[in-house]
Amino acid sequence: MDKLLVTGGRPLAGEARVSGAKNAALPILCAALLTEKPLALENVPRLMDVRTMAKLLAQMGVEVGAQSDGRLELRAKGIREPVAGYEMVKTMRASVLVLGPLLARCGRARVSLPGGCAIGARPVDQHVKGLQAMGAEITVEHGYMNAEAKRLRGARVTMDMVTVTGTENLMMAATLAEGTTVLENAAREPEVVDLANCLKAMGAKIEGAGTEVLRIEGMSSLSGARHRVMPDRIETGTYLAAVAAAGGKVRLTGAAPDTVGATVEKLVEAGARIALGADSIEIEMAGRARAVSLTTAPYPGFATDMQAQFMALDCIAAGTGTITETIFENRFMHALELQRLGADIAIQGNTAVVRGVEQLQGASVMATDLRASASLVVAGLVAQGETLIDRIYHLDRGYEGLEQKLSALGARISRVR
Ligand code: EPU
Repeated sequence: MDKLLVTGGRPLAGEARVSGAKNAALPILCAALLTEKPLALENVPRLMDVRTMAKLLAQMGVEVGAQSDGRLELRAKGIREPVAGYEMVKTMRASVLVLGPLLARCGRARVSLPGGCAIGARPVDQHVKGLQAMGAEITVEHGYMNAEAKRLRGARVTMDMVTVTGTENLMMAATLAEGTTVLENAAREPEVVDLANCLKAMGAKIEGAGTEVLRIEGMSSLSGARHRVMPDRIETGTYLAAVAAAGGKVRLTGAAPDTVGATVEKLVEAGARIALGADSIEIEMAGRARAVSLTTAPYPGFATDMQAQFMALDCIAAGTGTITETIFENRFMHALELQRLGADIAIQGNTAVVRGVEQLQGASVMATDLRASASLVVAGLVAQGETLIDRIYHLDRGYEGLEQKLSALGARISRVR
C-alpha cells in the first residue's frame, strides 16, 4: 500500500491552483437524480470520493460520462434501482445524500445506514426526521433505511442541530415535493449555497441559501443545467496552514476568498501576511508562527475540517494554543500521531492544549481520516528529517494531486510503497 514520504525543512514558494470542492461536488452529483435531463458539471475534482459517488449513481442507472479536465456529465434518464447498498455507503458516508433525491424522484428508496465513523457517531436521524415530516414512511430493517412516499409534501422542519448533508438532503427532496418546505436551523455552509445555485439552475425555487432558513417551493419536475463547482475552501485552508507552518510565500489561484474568512483570521493572528484577490489568495510567512486558540463551529465559524491542520501549526508555534472541537466528539486522533513527531499536546475532553515546541522530528505515522492525514502532511513539512505517513488512501479521498501541488511549491514529498 502507498505511503507518503515527506522530508521537512523547506519553505514553500510559488503558485498552486485550488481544485473544485469535494463537499460541494458530492451533493451536486446527487442532484442529477432529480431530473431526467443532463447535468453538465465543471470544476469537478478528481478524487476517490467523487469516483465512488459516480459509481454509486451508475449502479442505479445514471449515465455518467468520462471525467475530463474537470468536466463531468450525468444523466438520470431512468433510475433502475433506487438503492444504495452497504458496500458503497460504508466506504463513504456522503452516499446518504442519495436518499432525499431518490425518494423525491422515485417515490421510494433503500439506503444502507452508514454505521460507525473514525471521527464520531455521525447519526442520520435529522435526515430521517425531515423526510418523515414531508410525509415519507421510513422503516429501518437489516441495517437499511426503507423509505416510501408517493409524493413528498412540503413541510416546516426545524433541525435539532446544524447538519450540512442533512440540510442538503432535505433541500434536494423538497425541490420535487408538493407545496412549500421551510427548513429552519439550516446549515449556512458555502457548499449548501453552491448546491442551491445548481438546483436553481435546474429550475428549483429556493430562497434563503446561506441563511438559517431555507424556503423551497416544490416543482413537478426539474430540468437539466450546467454548473461550475465552487473552489474547495478546505483544500485552500490546508495549503495556507502548510505555508504558515513551513514558512515561505505562496499564491493560491482559482480560490474563493470570501469562503475562508475564519481560517484567514486565525492565520493573521498566527503572524501570516495575507492578501486577498478576487479569486486568489497570497500568503507570506516569515519566522515562527504564534500559537492560536480556536473553537470549531458551523459556518461562518471555524471549520472542523480545518482543526487538525491548525493543531499541526500550533505544534511548532511559539506559545500555547487551545483547540476545542464542538462538531465531532472523536476528532483528535491526529493528536496521538502528532505526539509521535514530538508534539506536546494534552487532551482534556473536547479540548486540546498544544504547547509549541522548537522542532518536530520525522517519524512513521498513521493517517486516521482525511483531515488528520492533512495535518500529518503539514507537520511533516516542518519536521526534521523524514516523516512516513501510512494509510494515505484517506488523502486521496479529498485532496487532488496533493504531492504534485506541494512538490511544485518546493516541498520534498513523494509516494512510496
Ligand atoms: N448529526 C446528528 N444527526 C444527523 C446529522 C448530523 O446528530 O442526522 C450531528 C453529527 O453527528 C455531528 C453534527 O451533527 O456531530 C454535524 O454533522 P453534519 O451532519 O454537519 O456533518 P456531515 O454533513 O456528515 C459534512 C462534511 C464533513 C464536515 C461536516 C461538518 C460532507 C460530505 N461532509 O459532514 O466533511 O466535517 O459536514 O462541517 O459535506 C471532510 O470533508 O473531511 C468531512 C468530514
